[in-house]
Amino acid sequence: MKLALRWHVFLIGFLLGTSGAFAADKPQTSAPSTQLAQRPGHAGIASANTLATEAGLEVLAKGGNAFDAAVAVASTLSVVEPESSGIGGGFMATMYIAADKRSVFIDARETAPAAVNTKDYLNPDGTPNRDTALKGPLSAGIPGEPAGLAWLAKHYGKLPLTASLAPAIRTARDGFKPDNRLLGSINEEQKNLERWPASAGKFLPGGKAPAAGQVWSDPDQAHTLELLAKYGEPGFYSGETAQKLVSAVHEAGGNWTLKDLAAYRVKERAPLTVDYRGYKIITAPPPSSGGVAIAEILNILSGFDLSKLDQVHRVHLVIEAMRRAFRDHNDYLGDPDFVKMPLNMLLSPYYADGLRQTILPDKATPSSMLAPSNSEDPGQHTTHFSIIDADGNMVAMTCTVNYVLGSTFVAKGTGVLLNDEMDDFALVANKPNVYGLLGSKANAPEPGKRMLSSMSPSIVIGADRTAVIGSPGGSTIITQVLEGILAFIDGGDAHQVVAYKRFHHQYMPDRVMVEPGAFDAATSSALTQMGHTLKEREPWGFMNAVIWDRRTNKLDAASDPRREDGLGKVQ
Ligand code: GLY
Repeated sequence: MKLALRWHVFLIGFLLGTSGAFAADKPQTSAPSTQLAQRPGHAGIASANTLATEAGLEVLAKGGNAFDAAVAVASTLSVVEPESSGIGGGFMATMYIAADKRSVFIDARETAPAAVNTKDYLNPDGTPNRDTALKGPLSAGIPGEPAGLAWLAKHYGKLPLTASLAPAIRTARDGFKPDNRLLGSINEEQKNLERWPASAGKFLPGGKAPAAGQVWSDPDQAHTLELLAKYGEPGFYSGETAQKLVSAVHEAGGNWTLKDLAAYRVKERAPLTVDYRGYKIITAPPPSSGGVAIAEILNILSGFDLSKLDQVHRVHLVIEAMRRAFRDHNDYLGDPDFVKMPLNMLLSPYYADGLRQTILPDKATPSSMLAPSNSEDPGQHTTHFSIIDADGNMVAMTCTVNYVLGSTFVAKGTGVLLNDEMDDFALVANKPNVYGLLGSKANAPEPGKRMLSSMSPSIVIGADRTAVIGSPGGSTIITQVLEGILAFIDGGDAHQVVAYKRFHHQYMPDRVMVEPGAFDAATSSALTQMGHTLKEREPWGFMNAVIWDRRTNKLDAASDPRREDGLGKVQ
């Protein structure tokens, strides 16, 4: 029924053509260029942690390329920023291979174990059990990050895993001083960490979070990383590590088997591309919903000349485009290996034309008039880093264990903190997950299936400037990356792109989340008059971007000024 309605909108758009309520935006005359004529000759990395950025630069200095550096950054983040990502979680990466002039998407997303049972996520009275969905081993999908890192080293890197994992192993073994974000996350989750002895053993030495300035090490994780470095993927998914993971999960009431681990496979997928104002945006396909939503929003916006509008009308149109794209996110998207999705429709300019016709120039459309989805909580979890190397190879990688400190469950003897990614499935149909996102059958859990993600690692290629961009932040990832792309296309440098003040609408709840300072009083008042409900929230996101200006052949790397520990550096 809903599909039929969407087709209706699609057809109206087709029949009416592209005449929006505003003058159509004319694409720039310069064609989007995917031909990178020159190499930068130097490299840039921006990540959420200084030690991780330095690990990447160290591996580049040893002769590695962007893909080796990505292995070093991601594995070091597993050690120094475990609240956000790690080898117990997964990642998605959009990459550009300069020598082949080709882009590829690496899907190292977690999968549901074969014994997944939706009853485990219900209370006896049939209401959703948020604890099993978010804490402990039942909340954890089969990790994808170790396989993904081994894949990058084997297929794209120049160095062996022993070299690209060396900085992470050294940092785990010798220790480091945790930053305030990690210490805050440990304090916040202390009660949950105390539920499992290995979690308390790792994160609460002596019964409490490490003190500020104290050197903290994790010899178990160093050993697990060493096995991965020595044996590659089998060093994690079979043998000693696999045995330890499965027995720890079983002891705590989980349902993983050795077969689940042995069956895990990285997927290479064609990235999703969209043209907007002369730029080619290369971004995440399903099982991320991010790229589809960004493409839908840009397709809608391409029918307007935003540059000719005042801020109020420009913001109004962006909000209305966000509202419409998020509605589709909740209805259709899931793991492409399991679900047939109407992507041709969702990504069609004609479909966007139809949606554009439904936008009123001076009035908000109540989401209830469109159809159903819920609360936003950007939280401090997930992480993104961006890399461009001297040859022009690029990596946009977003890594996650899902919520803060994932499941808070560490598998004894491994140092591996398991994710709580099962909550990204629609475990209970039409009940909100931790980000307030609703889901349907398309994202229902099934054995071996990947849960839907919002991760949107993206590369934006213009005639003379290129950006590698992404951010954490649950459902807000999508709108952050969108706004970053718009800021870049408007001419912003890396520091401006990551600092750009944010707003977010996700269809339901029907309100605009606004970062303090995003709008002046007159703009807020005009948007409210139009029918938008604005809700100010603490700043969110942790964007990391690298920009290559091919006119000057300069790289520019920047980490989000909202957080203190990131580092964007060019060498
Ligand atoms: N776990 C957050 C995401 O993948 O969107």
